[in-house]
Amino acid sequence: MLVKQLKEITKEHLNQVIEAAVLLVEVKVKTTKTDKRYADVIIQDGSKSMEAKFWDYDEKEDFFSQLSTSEIVVIQALVGEYQGQLQLTIKEIKLAEKNAYQMGDFIPKSEWSLEKLEQGLKYFYDRIESPQLKQLLDEMIFSETHYEKFMTHPAARRVHHNFYHGLVQHTLEVLKFAYTVATTKQLTQRQIDRLIVMTMLHDWAKVIEYKALPDLGFTEQGTMLGHIFLGAHGTLNHMNEIEDFNEDDKLIILNGILGHHGRLEFGSPVLPKSPEAQILHQADIMSGNIESILSFMKEQEGNEESFTGKLWNMGTEYYKKSFEP
Ligand SMILES: [Fe+2]
Ligand SMILES: [Fe+2]
Repeated sequence: MLVKQLKEITKEHLNQVIEAAVLLVEVKVKTTKTDKRYADVIIQDGSKSMEAKFWDYDEKEDFFSQLSTSEIVVIQALVGEYQGQLQLTIKEIKLAEKNAYQMGDFIPKSEWSLEKLEQGLKYFYDRIESPQLKQLLDEMIFSETHYEKFMTHPAARRVHHNFYHGLVQHTLEVLKFAYTVATTKQLTQRQIDRLIVMTMLHDWAKVIEYKALPDLGFTEQGTMLGHIFLGAHGTLNHMNEIEDFNEDDKLIILNGILGHHGRLEFGSPVLPKSPEAQILHQADIMSGNIESILSFMKEQEGNEESFTGKLWNMGTEYYKKSFEP
């Protein structure tokens, strides 16, 4: 049975074999307890991404080893269920015919228009008073070398904002949430300046950490160093080139970038040590979590059940009637 989009696959397809053209995003070769090799793969199209297994890896080793990442393939797969989530077992896999499909159709895009995203960034940039802080953003974001990358990159490989313009959409969401908290709690202008800057830059290094779409993998620098270090390092280098850059601004902004994951066990080397940094951290979590819930619910729109499957990063299922009029 041919499916046009992965999101059409529902529990009604359980134990049936479907055929679909998908983008092969990741292949991880693993070994079973009985020493048999298999592949854990992630596939996606414009509608959703899914996990799949390919058990006969040894027979297809040549096929897999000649693949570069992110190729469009046609698969035949058995629909099954694992821990409440649909999972595919791939039976047949082959490269799609050249020119039969367009890569753009396999990559989700932000639903916000580019114009709206640009206006949003500009709005918050204009709220900053310190000329040094504006200069920092001029060099790191609003410059020929960085602007286009910043505007098109995804913000994550999976889970949230993993689409074209994902990074800037996520950044803008965090700016809106953070700014609302800052004005509600009547932070000073200086604190607001620093909050806007650390927020705009907190995931800036994702343009270095992730390959550009349609490739979804990490770069070597990203794997070795991660966006938290890369972001703080890049920011410090730029700060050191700017005349009269205030030392406290430097410390607080760098701490905000380094601390934005909020906990040492989530990859931050230090905890947020200013109200600005804590607001950034909370706003960052909010943006990521809400986006992951909404996009997960959207992926499962088609089927009739009251609850979604379990969303692994949140540890629970969601009540689909929430969207009923
Ligand atoms: Fe981050
Ligand atoms: Fe973030």
